[in-house]
Amino acid sequence: MKFLVTGVAGFIGSHLAENLVKKGFNVIGIDCFIDYYPRWMKEKNLKWLKTQPNFTFFESDLFTCDLNSIIQSSDDAITIFHLAAQAGVRASWGGNFEIYTKNNIQVTQRLLEWAKQVNINKFIYASSSSVYGDCEELPEEEDSILKPVSPYGVTKLAGEHLCYLYWKNFGVPTVALRYFTVYGPRQRPDMAFHKFIKAMLNDKEIEIYGDGNQTRDFTYIDDIIEGHILALDAPDGEVFNIGGGKRITVNSVIKILEKILNKKAKVKYIERQKGDVRDTFASITKANEILNYTPKTKFEEGLRKEIEWYKKKQVKV
Ligand code: NAD
Ligand code: UGA
Repeated sequence: MKFLVTGVAGFIGSHLAENLVKKGFNVIGIDCFIDYYPRWMKEKNLKWLKTQPNFTFFESDLFTCDLNSIIQSSDDAITIFHLAAQAGVRASWGGNFEIYTKNNIQVTQRLLEWAKQVNINKFIYASSSSVYGDCEELPEEEDSILKPVSPYGVTKLAGEHLCYLYWKNFGVPTVALRYFTVYGPRQRPDMAFHKFIKAMLNDKEIEIYGDGNQTRDFTYIDDIIEGHILALDAPDGEVFNIGGGKRITVNSVIKILEKILNKKAKVKYIERQKGDVRDTFASITKANEILNYTPKTKFEEGLRKEIEWYKKKQVKV
């Protein structure tokens, strides 16, 4: 089996590629190091992969590159995990929207156009809990009403729709996975736990958006990766939530961090950020029944692993 992982230098893409390479599969990774966070962090994510003979890396922008010259046509069908995107909910306003539409919508359409004329096993798209918006009923089910409240969420939903219509019209075997706030080693530096751990270890202030009583269904990276592997057998044209199965307030996260790090956090409450949903909570019934997905990592255990990674890697940002 041959795999293509887009966004391979990122947080989730690098973990996914490592998992596949360790299983002995041939993996092609593409990334263009967009400047949302520093390149050296992404280079670090790729360090082990680049030493592996069954991994090939292309520094290419999916918006412009010639995929036929990267992926040689052969009899081997390819499985595509499409994770490349401009991530981040709160940065997607104003002039930045163009970066989101380009990397999240146009790139996805371009990849699907290519996929429709090559031999594909599966096209698995990284969607997001942000497609739900402020859902009236929790937990969020795959067929709940979708009303994103951030421009980012709109672009991720457009990507999902594109996957569906390329399946419906051209038979591209697409599956969309809606991830719920992912955490663990290599978490992006704009994300909450990365910022909170950094601040606490350096005795700096933590800024909490709003009252801190917003909830998130946080999902540990290993569970997200397991969801991808299980999705290889998913029925085409479908969408699945991949969540942690529980939700917790941001204030409770701070309490757990204080316990683990054995120190008091310096917390400052600032205004709620536009684009942030109040709550997320994944119904994982569909993923459990069809994919046999069950998240395994306990919250505190996952948080400890992210802290250990942060300390060991001596992340500077
Ligand atoms: P990330 O920013 O760490 O990784 C994304 C990677 O895609 C980056 O390395 C970036 O350089 C690359 N990329 C972007 N545009 C590209 C292009 N045109 N060509 C080539 N490479 C390009 O983000 P992440 O947190 O690992 O997220 C991965 C995917 O998961 C994204 O699609 C994101 O929307 C989705 N997602 C993430 C979370 C989360 O909690 N991290 C939750 C829901 C969905
Ligand atoms: C995350 C990812 O960043 C998105 O790319 C992804 O699409 C989304 O999950 C998803 O699940 O779909 P978010 O939930 O905002 O988005 O993740 P964090 O940045 O880790 O924030 C978690 C919570 O902490 C939010 O309620 C946010 O308001 C809060 N927060 C974050 C703070 O209070 N302070 C901060 O400095 C950062």
